[in-house]
Amino acid sequence: MKATAIAGANIALIKYWGNRDDALRLPMNGSIALTLDRLTTTTTVAFDGDLERDLIQLDAVEPHHEAHARVATHLDRIRRLAGEERWGRVVSRSNFPSGVGLAASASGFAALTLAASSALGLELEERELTSLARLGSGSAARSMLGGFVEWVAGSSHEDSYAYQLAPPDHWALCDCVAVVGETPKPVGSADGHRLAATSPLQVARVRQVELDIEPMRQAIRERDLPQLGSLMERDALSMHAVMMTSDPSLFYWTPATVAVMTAVRRWRMEGLGAWFTIDAGPNVHVLVPEEESDEAAARLRGIEGVQRVIQARSGPGARLSDEHLV
Ligand code: PMV
Repeated sequence: MKATAIAGANIALIKYWGNRDDALRLPMNGSIALTLDRLTTTTTVAFDGDLERDLIQLDAVEPHHEAHARVATHLDRIRRLAGEERWGRVVSRSNFPSGVGLAASASGFAALTLAASSALGLELEERELTSLARLGSGSAARSMLGGFVEWVAGSSHEDSYAYQLAPPDHWALCDCVAVVGETPKPVGSADGHRLAATSPLQVARVRQVELDIEPMRQAIRERDLPQLGSLMERDALSMHAVMMTSDPSLFYWTPATVAVMTAVRRWRMEGLGAWFTIDAGPNVHVLVPEEESDEAAARLRGIEGVQRVIQARSGPGARLSDEHLV
């Protein structure tokens, strides 16, 4: 009645911002991401008849009310599927800071979904697991799988799921994450998705994403970095334009965010194959071919305001582990 799972964060190349159904987390548009190896969450779930409530520990602390409720609600979904009534103990650790736009909810809910469903002996198909993870956090659907992953928007719980476009070893890319801020963001993505529809730009963005999905699949298939990079940069900027023009407006960038974006564009003119993207936070992900990653990381460290650089590669999907945290 106990299981442990590990899952990697993922960086979206075509992003998810805004739901058509908030309760079911059915997104306005499909998205495509790369699952990462270095940024992981490990979660142990144990169901125990002696407990009188769910005990949840995230990164060594009991989460505040809202975060506790989000995890407990997800456990309820999985308990319901298994006809289980016992309370659970959840201990989860990420090897990177959460709430700063590094996708801790993606790796966290992917690991929680796999650990809790395995602890209860549920034998779910891969596709069902991705849909189930999606109910905890949309981007968690993508972290269930490794390598390049597409989340199909769908219009019902069952047909909003993720599948693998290409395995991790398909293409040796490196995501150099320029960390420029590690303080938790004031508005998290769950609330942000609700604001997307208030931006006059969201309709245009969703229309453009629909056109960009197939060219992005093709860029991945053909390992065409200039095509992937230009689609990815435009998509990130369009998502941030929606954020900035929503009501209330969300603004995640800092001067260092802009400094990194400007530098990456300059380096590209000088011949370095580097492209950026940014999630709901100030940190900048710079995608480069593996052979240029040390050079890119060194250059990023030289930019004022960059606190550290994490070099992550394409990683596997969520998997079980024997090293339990409790
Ligand atoms: O899964 P959520 O609710 O944390 O949303 C993720 C939103 C972005 O990271 C900004 C974009 C994405 O597709 O990952």
